[in-house]
Amino acid sequence: MNGKQVVITGGNAGIGKATAIALAKKGANVIITSRSESKAKAAVDEIKAASKNENIDFVLINLVDQESVRKAAEEIKSKCPKIDVLINNAGCYLSDLELSPQGIEGQFATNHIGHFLLTNLLLENIKAAGNARIINLASIAHKSTRALNFDDLNYEKEEYGGWKSYSRSKFCNILFTKELARRLEGTGITANAVHPGGVRTEIAEKDANWYTKLGWIVMKPFMITVEDGAKTSIHLASSADVEGETGGYWVRSKKEWSNRPSQDPELAKALWKKSEELVGQEFPESKFQ
Ligand SMILES: NC(=O)c1ccc[n+]([C@@H]2O[C@H](COP(=O)([O-])OP(=O)(O)OC[C@H]3O[C@@H](n4cnc5c(N)ncnc54)[C@H](OP(=O)(O)O)[C@@H]3O)[C@@H](O)[C@H]2O)c1
Repeated sequence: MNGKQVVITGGNAGIGKATAIALAKKGANVIITSRSESKAKAAVDEIKAASKNENIDFVLINLVDQESVRKAAEEIKSKCPKIDVLINNAGCYLSDLELSPQGIEGQFATNHIGHFLLTNLLLENIKAAGNARIINLASIAHKSTRALNFDDLNYEKEEYGGWKSYSRSKFCNILFTKELARRLEGTGITANAVHPGGVRTEIAEKDANWYTKLGWIVMKPFMITVEDGAKTSIHLASSADVEGETGGYWVRSKKEWSNRPSQDPELAKALWKKSEELVGQEFPESKFQ
């Protein structure tokens, strides 16, 4: 990874920070994104100290807000003319229904739309790297979702549930990965999705209701460490064994089957189209080749 440029969203905590440390140890130049300047600075210092690598930087981004994503994309583009590895790692769990500044349900907006927009805005710089790798942190949680209702993305008709919406956002991460891989076929750029395992982080303690927090805390001793949770992302980012592998769903560094609806190419195209509508910008197929 010597001199390779890596960008990791949500690199100030949890799996993202562990991934950043491991790739920095391998000699990569790493940009982490964070929604908080103080957390970003503390994480950069920690990553530098743990990896003995000074080429670590940060960009502020709030993925729930498309304005912030567009501003951050410009900053990332100016800092890195080429991006060898983009790890769309950031994610949130929201027990209560929240809307983004653009009026989109919060988990869908953060976990899917924010990364959809960021990846598309960074495409030229990803292409400039040649055999770049895009890695999207999905989850086994996607399995609770089997369909998308594009007419009720904000749960105005169907009742909202934190888990239901989280699962849907992770299902979308896989569909997005599949459509990206299809569009990038033959370019040498790969796109893969990851389930990191049940990992001892604070994801379900930040914006979750008391019983979700309690359940998460009770389960934590049985979960894997962040270092182990980062292993599949690190493998996909750095191993020669996965050269050219694309469109997969990876668990414990092995390709597995995501649920059948998440493999539906027509649903992936429909999600792409809806996502374009929601960000108010088209990203035509011709731009990917
Ligand atoms: N932990 C698990 O068991 C597990 C299982 C399956 C999948 N995953 C996935 O793994 C990824 C990493 O999660 P984690 O467990 O490491 O959680 P984490 O420790 O909470 O880290 C999540 C990261 O995403 C950032 N983030 C959250 N909302 C954001 C927003 N609106 N804008 C920008 N950044 C935002 C967080 O920033 P703050 O520090 O400011 O909150 C943090 O840096 C997520 O995509 C998650 O869905 C985790």
